Amino acid sequence: MGVIERIDRRAVDRTTVHRIWRAILIVVALCVAVACFFAPVLLAVIGILLVLLICARVLYRGRGRYIPHLYARDISIYDQDYQAFIENSLSDLRSCKISGHTLLREAARLPDPSPENSDELLLDLGVWLGWSTRLVSDASNRTVYGFDTFEGLVEDWQIDDQMLLKKGTFSLSDPVAQRFIRDTGVTLHDGVPDVLGRKVQYVKGSTYDTLAPFLAARPGAAIKLFHMDLDTYESCLHGLETCKDRFVVGSILVFDEYLVTNGEMLAFFEFQKRYGLDWRYRAWGLEVGEMNVEMVTSRWKRMLYYLASIVVYCGGTTGLYTWAFFERRFWRFWLGAPVGDIAFMLGAAGERKSVSLEITGLGKLGSRPA
Ligand SMILES: C[S@@+](CC[C@H](N)C(=O)[O-])C[C@H]1O[C@@H](n2cnc3c(N)ncnc32)[C@H](O)[C@@H]1O
Repeated sequence: MGVIERIDRRAVDRTTVHRIWRAILIVVALCVAVACFFAPVLLAVIGILLVLLICARVLYRGRGRYIPHLYARDISIYDQDYQAFIENSLSDLRSCKISGHTLLREAARLPDPSPENSDELLLDLGVWLGWSTRLVSDASNRTVYGFDTFEGLVEDWQIDDQMLLKKGTFSLSDPVAQRFIRDTGVTLHDGVPDVLGRKVQYVKGSTYDTLAPFLAARPGAAIKLFHMDLDTYESCLHGLETCKDRFVVGSILVFDEYLVTNGEMLAFFEFQKRYGLDWRYRAWGLEVGEMNVEMVTSRWKRMLYYLASIVVYCGGTTGLYTWAFFERRFWRFWLGAPVGDIAFMLGAAGERKSVSLEITGLGKLGSRPA
């Protein structure tokens, strides 16, 4: 029996860090409850703060202008068409919230390998250490093709109005990558991660150079799973355009950073509009990148990574919007986000920017059977 057969598909999607986070939230709530019991004045203070919050939410004018996960860019800077797309997307996505990782859920739901689907392509665009690719193979028990330069982003990535990641970020020579390579038991050959027993093939190089020849070598093969984690608007749009003739009714597209309004979402908006596609959203959940922490081999080190990632998320990066009252994002979140979004966003100490959708009509791309 090979490695793939022994892997329990249900166990692939791990969310331990979020369970730890929810336990921390429960402990904090219990501490506050005990404090209120011994000092009832606290209850009055909390009550007043809640009433003030409710009043401020009624008066707040920014509702809908700042969207999860970043609460960064004011979407009213975009044209009416794109604004309407964002608003409709959010309203649809709110009924598709999931607690786990969007990509792994979709991979686990793919049909098992069979002679009928042996030509179908599962693509992982942007693999870093290769865990997203290997885990999709584990979850689907199918061959997955992973594309990466392994030398980092090929262009700068401006993430809404929040931060800029420079070209070259995510190179495997970065100290953070080197540490994860060691701690997750990855080996490299010629600068490419090993497949570690999975049904995976890596394609090294910029997708601007590799994607079209890869598809040309597999004429007519349909794309069943398209995972976009190249991060930038330009690489995402190029990936969609290059793959467009291989999408079929039933193709599943997963975008790791969909809720960045000047990135993947904008690229998909333009793409679907250009070709008059029909699609439906399927899931809104966690990004797959954090599974790198779950793959740390030593249990105690993994625990340290969990705690470190909670501290980094809440204390230094995206999660600041939940408590950093000196930041605008804090007010946008607490005053403008729907109550359901507040609970959803607070429930995870990690990024919930990942979205999946299914193509239901090919529009101008012409009809191809599912
Ligand atoms: C966020 S990382 C991918 C993370 C990975 N999916 C995971 O779960 O760990 C983005 C990756 O995309 C790669 N990348 C970005 N643009 C690219 C392009 N146009 N061609 C090839 N690789 C690219 C970078 O080298 C980087 O490794």
